[in-house]
Amino acid sequence: MEFFPKLLTEEESYSMGRKIKSLIAERGWGFWAVEIPGQSKFVGFVGLHIPKENMPFSPCVEIGWRLAKRYWGMGYATEAANESLRYAFTHLGLEEVVSFTTVRNIRSQAVMEKIGMSYTNNFKHPDLEPSDPLCEHVLYKISARAGSISRFSGV
Ligand SMILES: CC(C)(COP(=O)(O)OP(=O)(O)OC[C@H]1O[C@@H](n2cnc3c(N)ncnc32)[C@H](O)[C@@H]1OP(=O)(O)O)[C@@H](O)C(=O)NCCC(=O)NCCS
Repeated sequence: MEFFPKLLTEEESYSMGRKIKSLIAERGWGFWAVEIPGQSKFVGFVGLHIPKENMPFSPCVEIGWRLAKRYWGMGYATEAANESLRYAFTHLGLEEVVSFTTVRNIRSQAVMEKIGMSYTNNFKHPDLEPSDPLCEHVLYKISARAGSISRFSGV
């Protein structure tokens, strides 16, 4: 949670889990649980989400990830993110998927680059004070037209 405004309490964390579950029930997709078969039933989440409407590039669908630290550096985030993009382009038929994070979150930007997203621009997160060190964000995008559909459908 280094690059988020604050740690979640246990109750806030469960509440976020319930919200993610209800969004999946409502839309059929969302931030999915990541499971390592035979090892762990839950190591974090990766998937698709509709961010709040006050983002400067809304409406949009974002791809995001958050894994328990002991499972970093194993390629799980990138593998799950590629599958999420495949779902976004071939199943949901989206034109474009975005991702964003604070400028200092280099690990997250590395995942964006590995799944073929392109840096678009910097922006200030509307929910953070301009003086907050987390406020300055990078925006990445990938479009279905940029050859992504054939890449993800295996054509
Ligand atoms: C962002 C986050 C998901 C990235 O996780 P990660 O483990 O670094 O990312 P990956 O799963 O893609 O792992 C990549 C590394 O695994 C290693 N790796 C090992 N086996 C691999 C394999 N089979 N395939 C690919 N990579 C593999 C590689 O060394 C690779 O590192 P490299 O690209 O520098 O060579 C993780 O840091 C995280 O959960 N952070 C906290 C939450 C957060 O900040 N979320 C984003 C908010 S916007």
